[in-house]
Amino acid sequence: MRKKIVAGNWKMNMELEEGLNLVKSINQYFTDKPSVRCEVIVCPPYIHLASVNQILKNGKVRAGAQNCASEKSGAYTGEVSAPMIKSTGAEYVIIGHSERRTYYNEDNRILNKKTILALGAGLKVIFCCGEVKEERESGKYFEVVRTQLEEGLFTLKPEEITNVVIAYEPVWAIGTGLTATPEQAQEMHEYIRSLIKGKYGSVIAENITILYGGSCKPSNAAEIFSKPDVDGGLIGGASLKKEDFIAIVEAV
Ligand code: PGA
Repeated sequence: MRKKIVAGNWKMNMELEEGLNLVKSINQYFTDKPSVRCEVIVCPPYIHLASVNQILKNGKVRAGAQNCASEKSGAYTGEVSAPMIKSTGAEYVIIGHSERRTYYNEDNRILNKKTILALGAGLKVIFCCGEVKEERESGKYFEVVRTQLEEGLFTLKPEEITNVVIAYEPVWAIGTGLTATPEQAQEMHEYIRSLIKGKYGSVIAENITILYGGSCKPSNAAEIFSKPDVDGGLIGGASLKKEDFIAIVEAV
């Protein structure tokens, strides 16, 4: 059985105290509920990661970063490296989020480099892919996602890809209130799994976790997560509210 995961991507939200309060209550909730078998991850801004990990030390919830540098160390003012993230106790890093691709011009080559560095530092990678609205409308979405995966991930060795979680996030659904239909999500997830199978074989393909992201909320989560190739979600806006985030995790 492959792992089910719900990860909260806080983006550039939450000051220290409110973030720590949110993490405390989420961690308490899930630590007291061993029946929830889904892995729960919070991805706060870098600056909160060490404090968040102090809280999570003995709990069930894990932490991840939202990005990492494309270099390992050195004179890169303002950057945060994968080994630094690992040193805070974080287990995951999100790479290739559409906001990074769009606002910071991160292309597949850079994302591939970041992925290799992150895995080398002992982090697990949540690798995002997804098409923009025009690509959906013109029917190019399979091709776009295939290129993102081929160039971003498919240089990895089999023993590396097993530490990657894929997040399919149609860009037109992120923060817009528009959600992919469960059928659109399933169709793409099935396609992604077939690409993994073609490259790495059926055992790895069956075991890789593929998350859906884009305006996921308590009211639509259960239906999307009920699809056979959807193994959980990457949650933006709704991860900032304790009740909503918990309800989404419980929908898995
Ligand atoms: P959203 O964001 O849930 O606010 O649409 C998802 C994401 O960007 O990961």
